[in-house]
Amino acid sequence: MSQSNQPDIRKGLVGVLADVSAVSKVMPETNSLTYRGYAVQDLCEMCSFEEVAYLLWNGELPNRDQLAEFKAAEAAEREISPPLHEVIRAFPHDAHPMDAIRTAVSFMGMEDPEAADTGEPATRRKALRLLAKIPTAIAAAHRASKGQVPVAPNPAHSFAENFFNLVFGKVPQPEVVRAFDVSLILYAEHTFNASTFTARTVTSTGADIHGAITAAIAALKGPLHGGANEAVMHMLTEIGEPAKAAAWLEGRFDHRALVMGFGHRVYKSGDSRVPTMTKYAEKMAEVVGDRRWMEMSRILAAEMLRQKNIHPNLDFPAGPAYHLMGFDIPLFTPIFVASRVTGWAAHVIEQAADNRLIRPLSVYTGPEQRPVPPMAAR
Ligand code: COA
Repeated sequence: MSQSNQPDIRKGLVGVLADVSAVSKVMPETNSLTYRGYAVQDLCEMCSFEEVAYLLWNGELPNRDQLAEFKAAEAAEREISPPLHEVIRAFPHDAHPMDAIRTAVSFMGMEDPEAADTGEPATRRKALRLLAKIPTAIAAAHRASKGQVPVAPNPAHSFAENFFNLVFGKVPQPEVVRAFDVSLILYAEHTFNASTFTARTVTSTGADIHGAITAAIAALKGPLHGGANEAVMHMLTEIGEPAKAAAWLEGRFDHRALVMGFGHRVYKSGDSRVPTMTKYAEKMAEVVGDRRWMEMSRILAAEMLRQKNIHPNLDFPAGPAYHLMGFDIPLFTPIFVASRVTGWAAHVIEQAADNRLIRPLSVYTGPEQRPVPPMAAR
């Protein structure tokens, strides 16, 4: 109870400390984010996504041999089964790719050779299989929706190269692969966000990692969470050209509507990941020779700050970056899944290692207790 004797309800769990975690740290006062103690912008400049995945799961960066072993193990698990390919072909062609990958991950859980084992060694092996297979399933579903046959994963490719090859059947120039790799690092982990907390809640019941990741994907799809990167690109497409950005924004303000890609529950004076992603999105604009989207973004960000004092979040530069890389808009949030499965799995392992069932309380606001009327009296 609070001092006024009213129950202290934290709607949206705002400000609630739910547990301890050693995976990552958000410091809103300095707009910074660390994974296992390393600043995310330093990881982006010095490491590959595979090194960051290893870091999140093991607490330390890999040495050369550990990295080679990790990459080989991931590359060896990329194939998905013929029955899963069949299931994917049966998906409605207009299904959202987030629903497709959610269903594919759930199916992978039933097929997993260690399905019934929720112990940590098996969970770690399952996490690696999920990391390896998720891009294959995302790309197969995407290609099937366009009437295209799947491309087989190539174990010689890096994680990022493999993703491009699975989607497009080819790997673009190194600057594009690098920008994509950086986006994967930036999306990999972010403390107790809604999807991660969902994964931890499912894990807290003793359920398996495939169930936890399936639920996390469902949570990530929402436009207030991961779905925002797609919404940003729809917004930029609707605006159409930089000269129309300011007037478009005024229209949103008139309707008190949300502007996607802005605001954050934790960062109130800037998202630590935005400068790095913006830098690489700008590089993509240079490579492609299309400055329109970044120019529009610059105007929107400046006006949002000037008029509302609200900063962009990671989804804001990621949306146009993925568009400039050539990805269709419905693939943007599935790309987030391909990356965030690393953070989710780190939290699943951490939750299970020191578990207590997550079960908050609510204040009841329904009718007082009353007798059940017989049918004739209703
Ligand atoms: N566009 C316009 N106004 C926004 C805004 C946005 N994107 N984000 C926040 N605001 C406004 C709210 O309307 C509110 O105004 P009010 O006090 O006049 O009612 C104020 O800023 C505080 O926002 P609040 O809704 O309390 O913040 P929150 O912590 O509950 O929500 C988000 C955080 C992320 C859900 C919210 O900023 C949002 O919906 N953003 C757009 C979706 C998005 O980009 N999501 C990705 C997050 S990484």
